[in-house]
Amino acid sequence: LTGFITLDTGFKNTGSTKSKITFLDGEKGILKYRGYSIEQLAEKSSFLEVAYLIVYGNLPTQAELEGFQGEISKHTLIHEDMKKFFDGYPSRSHPMGQLGSLIFSLSTFYPECLKPNQTAEEQDLTIIKLLAKLPTIVSFIYKKSLGHPLIYPKNKYDYVTNFLWMTFGQRTEDYDVNPIVVSAMNKLLILHADHEQNCSASTVRIVGSSDCNLYASISAGIAALWGPLHGGANQAVIDMLELIKADGGDTEKWINKAKDKNDSFRMMGFGHRVYKNFDPRAKIIKKACDDILENLGIDDPILEIAKKLEEAALTDQYFIDRKLYPNVDFYSGIIYRALGFPSEMFTVLFALGRLPGWIAQWKEMHENKEPIGRPRQIYVGETDREFVDIKDRK
Ligand code: SDX
Repeated sequence: LTGFITLDTGFKNTGSTKSKITFLDGEKGILKYRGYSIEQLAEKSSFLEVAYLIVYGNLPTQAELEGFQGEISKHTLIHEDMKKFFDGYPSRSHPMGQLGSLIFSLSTFYPECLKPNQTAEEQDLTIIKLLAKLPTIVSFIYKKSLGHPLIYPKNKYDYVTNFLWMTFGQRTEDYDVNPIVVSAMNKLLILHADHEQNCSASTVRIVGSSDCNLYASISAGIAALWGPLHGGANQAVIDMLELIKADGGDTEKWINKAKDKNDSFRMMGFGHRVYKNFDPRAKIIKKACDDILENLGIDDPILEIAKKLEEAALTDQYFIDRKLYPNVDFYSGIIYRALGFPSEMFTVLFALGRLPGWIAQWKEMHENKEPIGRPRQIYVGETDREFVDIKDRK
């Protein structure tokens, strides 16, 4: 082994690519998509506008946005045979397990995505179809979990309202579009839209680097996101807060458990590989929590527990020494819950928001003509061993 390999388990200090999509400053807690701050985008933009920005590089003009919405509205339905998947899943099966397999199967229903060296138009149509169909698939997963009839998209609705219609609408009623809910959903999806080379985006890039099609590459990203150390944390946070509430709300006790190396308990929603300051998304979501719950007239006791945990942790030396702050997952679940989603759906909602980022990362990797990803290792195993017949093994 020549001395050219440096061990960097977890890629903690490895720059895996050059990218123009998202800028993070972990020390200052800065996050920008294509140069625009998330604070401005979360306040002034819609999720579809931000999706266009992240995928194509610029905020759309009115005509471009209308064209984008128009193209998407042509592809919001899924192949009717895809509904057979839902009959095969066990009831109560986790929505992320369903989502990963359904998105993977898009490559079988829409095989044009497999064409090598797609033209720009062909690649764009492949992208549009995925952006269009994900909300439908997510809402179908939710409706099936309730045993409710599926609600098909209505193209008179904008992207986010259409998702809410398919998710919470009923065939027998007109949909009462609540602007507070639409605004909250847009904001949450915007804040999840990309985050440079996080675990799932890096997964999408490395799977795509083998020239694997977009749908299968995104499905691999969904698998990576499911982990509780990554996107699965948003469901784990709510489960944790419910546990602490059921245990009497003794935040000090649980802070001490999080610090105890002999205790497997982790303060979910805290800590980040890059942010060694506040996660700027957590700041925005925490404020949105108060506003949305108040506007919806909801008093959720776990919000107070979350705030008590945060206050206690931020003055605790263990957390201070390790620069552990609330991340994007710490408060997001409280809003999802207030909007009516069960905690099993939270990570699927993270995927819905992250889709434009994954697509942009996959697209950029191809535009950069990057080689297949193939890291090396430092071998520390057995060296030369002679084969022993099974009859002679001890
Ligand atoms: C996301 O990368 C991204 O950008 C991800 C994301 C995105 O938008 O894509 O931002 C989304 O995944 C946010 C993170 C969600 N995960 C969680 O909330 C799970 C809980 N957090 C952690 O497990 C942890 O903080 C990570 C996974 C987020 C980061 O892990 P690192 O960078 O590998 O840090 P580490 O595990 O080495 O921790 C360093 C120290 C350790 O203590 P010491 O060995 O130094 O004594 O901090 C401790 C850890 O034990 N620590 C925690 C802790 N997180 C870190 N201790 C208690 N509770 C925690 N949550």
